[in-house]
Amino acid sequence: MTELWWKSAVVYQIYPRSFADADGDGMGDLQGIIDHLDHLAELGVDVIWLSPIHKSPQDDNGYDISDYQDIDPLFGDLATFDALMKGVHQRGMKLIMDLVVNHSSDEHAWFQESRSSKDNPKRDWYWWRPARDGMEPGTPGAEPTNWGAAFGGPAWAYDEKTGEYYLHLFSPKQPDLNWENPEVRQAVYAMMNWWLDRGVDGFRMDVINMISKVLPLADGRLTAGQAYADGSAGYINGPRNHEFLHEMYEQVFAGREDMLTVGEMPGVTVDEAILFTDQERQEVDMVFQFDHVWADRGGDPWRVFPLQLTVLKGIFGRWQAGLAEEGWNSLYWNNHDQPRVVSRYGDDSPEFRSASAKMLGTVLHLHRGTPYVYQGEELGMTNYPFRSITDFRDIEALGQFRQATEIEGRAPEDVLTVLRARGRDNARTPMQWDDSPNGGFSSTTPWLAVNPNYREINATAERANPDSVFHYYRQLIKLRHDEPAVVDGDFTMLLPNDERLYAFTRRLASTELLVIGNFTGETVRAEIDGWEESELLLNNLPEAPDGLTMAPWQAVVLRRTR
Ligand code: GLC
Repeated sequence: MTELWWKSAVVYQIYPRSFADADGDGMGDLQGIIDHLDHLAELGVDVIWLSPIHKSPQDDNGYDISDYQDIDPLFGDLATFDALMKGVHQRGMKLIMDLVVNHSSDEHAWFQESRSSKDNPKRDWYWWRPARDGMEPGTPGAEPTNWGAAFGGPAWAYDEKTGEYYLHLFSPKQPDLNWENPEVRQAVYAMMNWWLDRGVDGFRMDVINMISKVLPLADGRLTAGQAYADGSAGYINGPRNHEFLHEMYEQVFAGREDMLTVGEMPGVTVDEAILFTDQERQEVDMVFQFDHVWADRGGDPWRVFPLQLTVLKGIFGRWQAGLAEEGWNSLYWNNHDQPRVVSRYGDDSPEFRSASAKMLGTVLHLHRGTPYVYQGEELGMTNYPFRSITDFRDIEALGQFRQATEIEGRAPEDVLTVLRARGRDNARTPMQWDDSPNGGFSSTTPWLAVNPNYREINATAERANPDSVFHYYRQLIKLRHDEPAVVDGDFTMLLPNDERLYAFTRRLASTELLVIGNFTGETVRAEIDGWEESELLLNNLPEAPDGLTMAPWQAVVLRRTR
């Protein structure tokens, strides 16, 4: 037994809007989750992470919160939430919430007060700045800095009422909270304590490495052809980030037992992650880094590069080595912001979908770290066949499309090619429960179309088939629970220059595991010696493997003792 329970845990992410619709309005809800808790218990996961269900105008599907201590009526109410939490706990699982406090909604009472006048006591709870020196407020280029917002357009919105701009790194309906102000921090900690006192078991913290800004706010570097600058040097891992997270730990988590905290941190480096997750420093338990999901985009946001396996191995190898002694990794392929991994790094054709989904799961889950499964990943769900921009609902896809085509003059078809491959709505299509209309997600037309492949790919079919992705994920999760080397073993990357096979060992005392995954549709022999006498723990194909010769998309896990 390791003393930190979440090292042997697997987390399952629910995007409530797309999980299950119990009240027939086309949108998932809390009762829908309650109705499907046994699916998760059977899968064997230990923790459920709920994407935001708080009161929200839903500009960014709930990542814009207008009341942190209430449930949006779309999803239910606090009584239903309590019933859900009870159902989760009764099944021996834990529940963590999303914590979205880099920004609130512009409809939050705090922001309404803040924008009401320059001398309102909450004025300084957000980032207000006058127009650039010598420029007419509200005119193009007069923004206080040249930063672009994540969803297109400038990162500043002009507010006529007081003649100043407020900062929004995401949409204009997501004003950034000013963490320099101690009152803001106290209000956030009080809210967090309120949820934990209610019974939740921790938080996934949204873009939590953007809460400390570099002062004074200053222009970023402009790239030719782009309308706005990348301001990230001014807000990623800012100077007070560690201090704020440690303060949060002391005021919220200290003295509470069995919590889990994971910080979403785009652009975080290995060195920073060690500091964030070193238990002695008391900041967070683990972070979500992005290097491995940005491996197919090179430096250019508007191109899709085929995955180079050596690049992916280089990234994971660096993270595994970096967090080997202090700190801890999170492991994920999918979430609500990423395309479906089987379509991205695997092969979603009928021939190889199931094998490649299992291979990808094997490679990920056998690393050292805590794995996260995103809803539908356990079914091998795929990307959606988007035809035109009107098929998308995501504020990011729509905003980026507008900026790229209208302002930067890119060809709409080129932009669509990238959105089809990478758009976040790929992950957000409704969960495919069965082969009835709307995939059993809802009795009515859902808010985002169900993937037409739901007739073949759905939970009912997966559960009925012993060789399915679902049952394979159950084995992966069980292996983590049963085999200490999966949890605590050290990690050694093998074949680092091989473009086809992903191979590594995990070793704990006298037990050693060998993991091999074939990332191609061809048969490839692994040149690794000394495993003749080993025991086969997992194999993703119905046929037994031929030594270390890997069939297309095959994955194996072997164990030997010495
Ligand atoms: C995070 C969320 C994403 C959201 C953004 C702004 O990256 O995962 O869905 O749009 O933060 O809150």
